[in-house]
Amino acid sequence: MLPRSLVLLQLLLLLSSASAWKKDEFRNCDQTPFCKRARSRPPHSLPSFSVADVSLSDGSLSALLLPPSSHPLHQVVDSASHSDSPDSPRPLLLRLSALHGGILRLEIDELETASGSRRRFRVPDVLLPDVDDRLRLRLPRLGSPAPGLSTFPISPGFEAALRHDPFELVVRRSPSGDPVLSFNSLGLFDFETLRPKRHGDGDGDGDGDGDGEWAERFRSHTDSRPRGPQSVSFDVSFHGADFVYGVPEHALSSSLALRPTRGPGVDSSEPYRLFNLDVFEYLADSPFGLYGSVPFMLAHGAGASSSGFFWLNAAEMQIDVLAPSSAGRVDTLWMCEAGVVDAFFFVGPGPKDVLAQYASVTGAPAMPQQFALAYHQCRWNYRDEEDVAAVDAGFDEHDIPYDVLWLDIEHTDGRRYFTWDRALFPHPEQMQQRLAAKGRHMVTIVDPHIKRDDSYYIHKEATENGYYVKDASGNDFEGWCWPGSSSYPDILNPEIREWWADKFSLQSYKGSTPSLYIWNDMNEPSVFNGPEVTMPRDAIHYGNVEHREVHNAYGYYFHMATSDGLLKRGDGKDRPFVLSRAFFAGSQRYGAVWTGDNTADWDHLRASVPMLLNLGLTGLTFSGADVGGFFGNPEPELLVRWYQLGAFYPFFRGHAHLDTKRREPWLFGEKNTALIREAVHLRYSLLPYFYTLFREASVSGVPVMRPLWLEFPDDKETFNNGEAFMVGPSLLVQGIYQEREKSVSVYLPGEQSWYSLRDGVAYGGSASHKLDVREDSIPSFQRAGTIIPRKDRFRRSSTQMVNDPYTLVIALNSSLAAEGELYVDDGKSYDFEQGAFIHRRFVFADKKLTSVNLAPANSGAKKFSSDCVVERIIVLGLPAGAKKAVIEPGNREAEIEIGPLNLRAGSSPVAPTIRKPNVRIADDWTLRIL
Ligand code: GLC
Repeated sequence: MLPRSLVLLQLLLLLSSASAWKKDEFRNCDQTPFCKRARSRPPHSLPSFSVADVSLSDGSLSALLLPPSSHPLHQVVDSASHSDSPDSPRPLLLRLSALHGGILRLEIDELETASGSRRRFRVPDVLLPDVDDRLRLRLPRLGSPAPGLSTFPISPGFEAALRHDPFELVVRRSPSGDPVLSFNSLGLFDFETLRPKRHGDGDGDGDGDGDGEWAERFRSHTDSRPRGPQSVSFDVSFHGADFVYGVPEHALSSSLALRPTRGPGVDSSEPYRLFNLDVFEYLADSPFGLYGSVPFMLAHGAGASSSGFFWLNAAEMQIDVLAPSSAGRVDTLWMCEAGVVDAFFFVGPGPKDVLAQYASVTGAPAMPQQFALAYHQCRWNYRDEEDVAAVDAGFDEHDIPYDVLWLDIEHTDGRRYFTWDRALFPHPEQMQQRLAAKGRHMVTIVDPHIKRDDSYYIHKEATENGYYVKDASGNDFEGWCWPGSSSYPDILNPEIREWWADKFSLQSYKGSTPSLYIWNDMNEPSVFNGPEVTMPRDAIHYGNVEHREVHNAYGYYFHMATSDGLLKRGDGKDRPFVLSRAFFAGSQRYGAVWTGDNTADWDHLRASVPMLLNLGLTGLTFSGADVGGFFGNPEPELLVRWYQLGAFYPFFRGHAHLDTKRREPWLFGEKNTALIREAVHLRYSLLPYFYTLFREASVSGVPVMRPLWLEFPDDKETFNNGEAFMVGPSLLVQGIYQEREKSVSVYLPGEQSWYSLRDGVAYGGSASHKLDVREDSIPSFQRAGTIIPRKDRFRRSSTQMVNDPYTLVIALNSSLAAEGELYVDDGKSYDFEQGAFIHRRFVFADKKLTSVNLAPANSGAKKFSSDCVVERIIVLGLPAGAKKAVIEPGNREAEIEIGPLNLRAGSSPVAPTIRKPNVRIADDWTLRIL
């Protein structure tokens, strides 16, 4: 029996599902004192800070940053004597360092006072542990080309220039001096130093008028704010930029780039908010903050140059993008409630350079297990073991492959995670083993809210050890979530992360088996009765850190601890799979994310593409949106279109709310089942390509799903295209976002032509094509000049495809040449880190296809081998007349025939095909066409 209060709450939630986003539950900038204050200052309206005492210290530039004495917000308190001394400004400490690879790091913090007052929070464990040692270039000297200017080189062709008075930092090209990025060019830098409360400091009354910095009310909640004002704000300008991107997570359905939020010609808009929130029925287009935050922005412009800026700070952040006052420059204003400036400027100059620079400080995406790239089937909830067995069998009966079956919160005993409802799931191990026998996996949900029940072992241990986050009065914080009254582990504490990680061991997590992986949800954290549905900002974490300082990283630490738990469980040999809803910079090292509770409508289908593209640009390439839409019941046409698009998402999962009608792919009539089957089959055949792209991402930081401009950086037409995207360098996909769409205009960039995946027809590049919309697929194209590896035999799951032969699809360009890659390893372990992988480049030129080894010789202690062969090579664009191919070594012959483009039943279009070349993917070989 559910407690009455819980039933009531559920009823309320169900009732409210009829209405949309509840705007009033969330604060806007005007209701947020630090935001309102920072936003109200026009550029150059404040007296500016200046720089003094510049010196070289340990190879970095150090200086004092002096607030203007007339600055009203910087009247200083001598904390030792507690007496006000309004005229002596308190300097800040500034440090600038050059990091290897084209990165400038700027740190600004308070000077430690003699009385040793509390230090401001710096987010630990996000930067790669050795960033400073590994990347910092120790500067031999500083330049001073003009009075009051200090300069030093960052990387070949770029330098940093620090102007002393007024304070401004410019990253510029050298020797031309052309600016790339600048800080405080609009004079909006401000830094509220910590100080004791003074007589006359007002408490906010929640109407947004009071300064609200020593207690603040919002709706029925009071934030005690015992530490007072401590916000930081500044402007950053991107020079040579037409558009800016990134800083997820926001719902964007009308634009890929971040639309300006202020300035001439802009309707008044909220800034982009970065504050991890569980937003019920979010709008498809809004700058409002959603579940995760990555304070990393990229800029790109004509001239094909890109740059980036990352602010490592986990407090609430608000970012304005100003309408351009001059072409080729975008100004932005960054405002944050607390913390320090720890910022990174990435000089590019190409977009992929920026991504590599960001990855070098926060890490590249983890290499996932192969199965995790296949299709996942989820629903809130699969009821019991019979239901699980029936769904599993349904996929087999309808010849639709899938790899992972997910169990939502109802599988537990009363929403006590790590337990099972034994009436519904009496044999969890056998259930998982039955799936595993078909090469399938299971995922269960484990949320961070712990039911306050003395008989629940997790709660008991957490209580006894003092492992919960504390409220402002020092008691275990209690909030309301799925299980009712709950508390939240203080996951910022490394000891508590260890404890949490141990809960995933097979001994501890009863009923789990090695084929079980994990889903972390509600980790913003979601607190149903908390301010803005989250934890109060004055709650206290490890190290006396206030929740406001760490909020945006709370879910990140959960993801980390859960992923570490799975790693431990597998003795460091099994790559974890953990899906998380909340995220922060660096989450890419721990697993996948998804865009949360979207809605089954066409706008949300459209929004999924810009949202996933912006996630990928900020490191989180392993991401997807709920296929079908979480809330509501999709019409069959929408569901089919969603599968057709979702088949190209890096993370491909169907999911649905508890109240929705069942929507397993075979429930919409034979025709729709066939269409969905076709979409899922296409994904499975492309798995070798996807896996190769994930490998690339894990090395270079370049995402799997890419905006067109990443591949075509000098084509302006692509800069704000959020309807189409690239999967790797070779595939272009255009969604269909409207019901009964008859025709669609698709822009194909570049000089080369593009071959339709469906029928192999070629379309010219650098042109828009008006195409008839088909029911059986969405427009998707292979770029001429590329080679894509596929596996075309259809199995029940990806793990059953391991030994299957490959198909190579060669799309020749105008010089009759093409190139592509294939990366293969065991799909599970970390042996690849010791050289156990196959990495080939296929090069086609002068009628000859060559397989070149990309793995460095003697690259490690371990080897990976595969007997897989290539069974078909399709050559799109091959001039007529070719009869056969001769393979070396061995001088063998293979016939060239006209064969099906796809191996599916029915009338597949045809293309020239080399049949049974049967060359091993592990070997060197060449194949000459005669
Ligand atoms: C949240 C999740 C959703 C899940 C539900 C129940 O709303 O975003 O995916 O199904 O909680 O756990």
